[in-house]
Amino acid sequence: MKVLVIGGGAREHALCRSLSLDPAVSALYCAPGNAGIADVATLRPVDALDGAAVATLATELVADLVVVGPEAPLVAGVADAVRAAGIPVFGPSAEAAQLEGSKAFAKDVMAAAGVPTARSYVCTTPEEVDEALDAFGAPYVVKDDGLAAGKGVVVTDDLAVARAHALACDRVVIEEYLDGPEVSLFAITDGVTVVPLQPAQDFKRALDGDEGPNTGGMGAYSPLPWADPKLVDEVMELVLQPTVDELRRRGTPFSGLLYAGLAITGRGTRVIEFNARFGDPETQVVLARLRTPLADVLLNAANGTLDTLPPLVWREDAAVTVVIASHNYPETPRTGDPIEGLLDVAAEDEPDAYVLHAGTRREGNTVVSAGGRVLSVTATGSDLAQARAKAYKAVARIRLDGSQHRTDIAAKAAEGR
Ligand code: AMP
Ligand code: GLY
Repeated sequence: MKVLVIGGGAREHALCRSLSLDPAVSALYCAPGNAGIADVATLRPVDALDGAAVATLATELVADLVVVGPEAPLVAGVADAVRAAGIPVFGPSAEAAQLEGSKAFAKDVMAAAGVPTARSYVCTTPEEVDEALDAFGAPYVVKDDGLAAGKGVVVTDDLAVARAHALACDRVVIEEYLDGPEVSLFAITDGVTVVPLQPAQDFKRALDGDEGPNTGGMGAYSPLPWADPKLVDEVMELVLQPTVDELRRRGTPFSGLLYAGLAITGRGTRVIEFNARFGDPETQVVLARLRTPLADVLLNAANGTLDTLPPLVWREDAAVTVVIASHNYPETPRTGDPIEGLLDVAAEDEPDAYVLHAGTRREGNTVVSAGGRVLSVTATGSDLAQARAKAYKAVARIRLDGSQHRTDIAAKAAEGR
């Protein structure tokens, strides 16, 4: 099987790593990729947002499967363009990707499907904003309706801050605050059959102790020893299957990866958000634990034959990933700094710990930072404490001027707190 992966972050590096280890994959390409992905896949340049360009590339490569990683190409219709060229694609249509592209659309689907989520108002005028903020009270949750790379959401006790964010958006969703730990649960679907993966937890805030601004995600771990063993079954029944069924009923079937961001509240599990693609950095830990070869799973989703897939097999191991971000992330990240220590990790820590690249590129013999999130250092171990120790040992070998990372990824869970 020849596979083309679209994107260039650590999620795509994790996807490419798993695909490169799959004996069914005879050729692996990634466009545009990054300096780390180049070790496991052949890189091709492409404008990932240009459906025609991606379809042309896939045709040229005689790809048997295209996997679209990030949300922006999906919302831009890249999966539609590839499908129209007759090539199986893992990723939803632009219409179905509105589940992530528009928070208001997602709320509408959830209401129709009876999926538990925060009560919310969609506001377009300052009067509506004030009414909604007043109705819910603090803490205020204010979400830009459109795609904002994880930075469109403000959660604050400060009314002035909440109001200013709302007024800066064209259309905004203001909702009830959900109190409780968060879980990311992914499911692979072909629009009918839904196959859940293992749950993970993401660390969204920039600093230790969940302080600082929201980011794309600073680390993740899986499994969740504190979670109810029935969680996956419950979310399948209450959230994932009803959402997939509702989208099919509307004539916009969703195939690809359905990501449920959940809050485990005192009153039950609630959906915080849906995404239409693998989460980053959760994918790094979920795929580290998946034993079933990945290519066939994705191809069956693309071809509408997931009902024929044998049950997924998981490792007993735990996995932890720690994101190394550039100076000043998430505000105005500095790029172009050399990264040292990558070969030390490869020599000393692999295969238990390894570095997945996010924002990197090669300049001659040097790998330099090229984005806000630069690396995702991932490790597996017999339990979370061991996986954590291995991940942080590898993190300590990396040198990137001005970089930052959280020191408490999976710490509480590893200690049974
Ligand atoms: P989102 O982009 O919707 O995932 O929101 C980003 C982050 O904001 C989430 O991971 C939560 O930590 C937080 N958040 C979003 N919605 C709520 C809510 N209703 N209550 C509490 N926190 C929320
Ligand atoms: N880790 C959060 C996301 O992928 O949206």
